[in-house]
Amino acid sequence: MVAALKGLGLKDRAMHPYDHFWDLRLGISTFGYHPAVGMADHPNFRVHYTPVPYSILFRILSHIGLAANDVFVDLGCGLGRTVFSAAWLGAKRAIGVEIEGSLVEQADRNRAKDRWRDRNVEFVCQSAESYAHAETTVIFMFHPFGEGTMTSVIRGLDQTLAQKPRRLRIAYLNPVHSRVLDASEQLVRIDHWPAQRHILSRNSRYDVGFWAAGGNADLAGVSHFSAAI
Ligand SMILES: C[S@@+](CC[C@H](N)C(=O)[O-])C[C@H]1O[C@@H](n2cnc3c(N)ncnc32)[C@H](O)[C@@H]1O
Repeated sequence: MVAALKGLGLKDRAMHPYDHFWDLRLGISTFGYHPAVGMADHPNFRVHYTPVPYSILFRILSHIGLAANDVFVDLGCGLGRTVFSAAWLGAKRAIGVEIEGSLVEQADRNRAKDRWRDRNVEFVCQSAESYAHAETTVIFMFHPFGEGTMTSVIRGLDQTLAQKPRRLRIAYLNPVHSRVLDASEQLVRIDHWPAQRHILSRNSRYDVGFWAAGGNADLAGVSHFSAAI
């Protein structure tokens, strides 16, 4: 009984009412925790699952100007909070890539609910390194993995963009390996929200880096959906 109650994340929900409100509004359950795998300085380190606060997510999606023709991909999506939010905001497709099978199963349970069944929401259980970004236009990452994995992800993305140049934006929250993106042949850093100035939530400070490809250097403040938030 006590274990079952713990699984509901009641304490977290009580402590984060805004996140609880948005989970209810979207009809999903994204509170949870999954431990990290490996050591933080290992190239293939997998960061623990903890969801991005909705307040921060909405500000980021508003800043990148998520639009109705966007294909949104969260690399390391956990229970899919960002994916459902992007779909709710009107993205053409929203895809979550997650390596931990148990998290994907729970994300899929959210997706199976009536209101999501016919929406363009998908979850795939695989490493971010092997995901082919054929149609992706927006990538979101909340410091999901180590530098080695990030290097493979960006190398693959560079190849895809060289073969098929297109508009693409990246938001990287807590951008621990930002120098990997800075070294990309195809991406240009277009903005940076330093933690002290912009983002304060749950008494935590967050940095966010923004990169773009395809001559899309001007994001500033464009939002098609801010009125809905
Ligand atoms: C900090 S959580 C972010 C969760 C989600 N993006 C959000 O913002 O709500 C990082 C997630 O990345 C996942 N992850 C770690 N390494 C990965 C990899 N190589 N490929 C895909 N997902 C990975 C972890 O399992 C974890 O769920």
